[in-house]
Amino acid sequence: MSINYSGQIPNNVNLADDRRLQRALEAWQPGFLQWWSEMGPESFQGCDVYLRTATSTDAQGWATFGYVKMPDYRWGIFLADPEPDRRIPFGQHKGEPVWREVPGEHRGVLRRLIVTQGDTEPASVEQQRHLGRTCPSLYDLRNLFQVNVEEGRHLWAMVYLLHAYFGRDGREEAEALLRRRSGNADNPRILGAFNEKTPDWLSYFMFTHFTDRDGKYQLASLAESGFDPLARTCRFMLTEEAHHLFVGESGVSRVVGRTCQLMKEHNTDRVGEHGGIDLTIIQKYINFHYSVSLDLFGSELSTNAANYYTAGLKGRFKETDRDDDHQLTQSGYAVWKPDHGVIVQTDRPALIALNETLRDSYIADCERALARWNKVIREAGISFELKLPHRGFRRSIGEFAGVNVTPDGQIVTDEEWQRRTADWMPTRADREFVASLMKPTTAPGQFASWIAPPARGINHQALDFEYVTALPAN
Ligand SMILES: [Fe+2]
Ligand SMILES: [Fe+2]
Repeated sequence: MSINYSGQIPNNVNLADDRRLQRALEAWQPGFLQWWSEMGPESFQGCDVYLRTATSTDAQGWATFGYVKMPDYRWGIFLADPEPDRRIPFGQHKGEPVWREVPGEHRGVLRRLIVTQGDTEPASVEQQRHLGRTCPSLYDLRNLFQVNVEEGRHLWAMVYLLHAYFGRDGREEAEALLRRRSGNADNPRILGAFNEKTPDWLSYFMFTHFTDRDGKYQLASLAESGFDPLARTCRFMLTEEAHHLFVGESGVSRVVGRTCQLMKEHNTDRVGEHGGIDLTIIQKYINFHYSVSLDLFGSELSTNAANYYTAGLKGRFKETDRDDDHQLTQSGYAVWKPDHGVIVQTDRPALIALNETLRDSYIADCERALARWNKVIREAGISFELKLPHRGFRRSIGEFAGVNVTPDGQIVTDEEWQRRTADWMPTRADREFVASLMKPTTAPGQFASWIAPPARGINHQALDFEYVTALPAN
């Protein structure tokens, strides 16, 4: 379905036919632009950035490239095309036609799901707003800004649903999304990971890899929703999200690649003095970001998750591809938990274990990416293996909250935990060292000392293409 760019708000939802909604969104727009100018990428708003914009939501049209100043980016409302005769794929309404309006009894829950998802989008822009000043290359700077404008658009996507389907409450929630601030003590973002700092580019790549990937799994399970406008919104968001995951995974891979190159060149494991980041520090960053992201899936056992599923609001990852009854009232699911000093697997009703089911899909995906990073190390002829820590490591939500689980899954005493945490988590010295490497590299085709160039440029452009021009004078 092609996108109408002629109005104030680009959209493929025939906004011009619904004057009330159009006016409500046009009234929200100045607040969004104000938020973007205050909380969006710091000091780069006047640059020309080689960005991708959607012109239609089909395979051909959703990626057209050209120079845009970020405040002029055409944020808009794009839903994936409706599937004819789509049926609710799971829960007690399985097989019934999908809902085109919000079912009254699920109004509050649906609004909460949409607000929680929507809140993460501006939060990550806020977390990343200082990073431009220390970019490792113009290529990376452009990718950062692409991710940022798309997170801004994901906010639009959720705000559209709030305005279109939730009346006055929805409009109030849409305003509140512009008022909360990541890390603010009085009015923080809703979820913990979105109030953490993203202080340096290694953290940024880890964040886009591990935390945006949580977003992928949340969006994918909402893309199964019986509330069709939500499903179609999330489907289109997932196409954009794929790029964010690429930025994260390839970013970490390039850091690993550069470290290996320096290790071989200088015949040492300690590459700090040669401008690289030791594999042991990379491992600690993985431990940090992976554990924070695992918490985003919520408690292993959750009656809320069961209710969302039974009601047909939030499915599992790839719900429709699964070969079971899609109601789960009779099935069990294996859940890990600590029990008298060891970690055991227990069989629990599948319905209340849906957060764990989604977390398991996520973990499998993280394992696949990790194997690709390890391949880079192996092919460099270096014997070192990066690992994902145990799912119980450093958790603050669910069965493992408050339990001292080591990265390899042993439960230890407080004392041992304290003694060894510097081996597992980035220390202040590690963070200061990484920060010391963060010097801007902005000559076309140049890359900072701690990261390898990517395999190819964006949209078939050369690596020394000017992905961002008209940079601010320092
Ligand atoms: Fe997003
Ligand atoms: Fe994202």
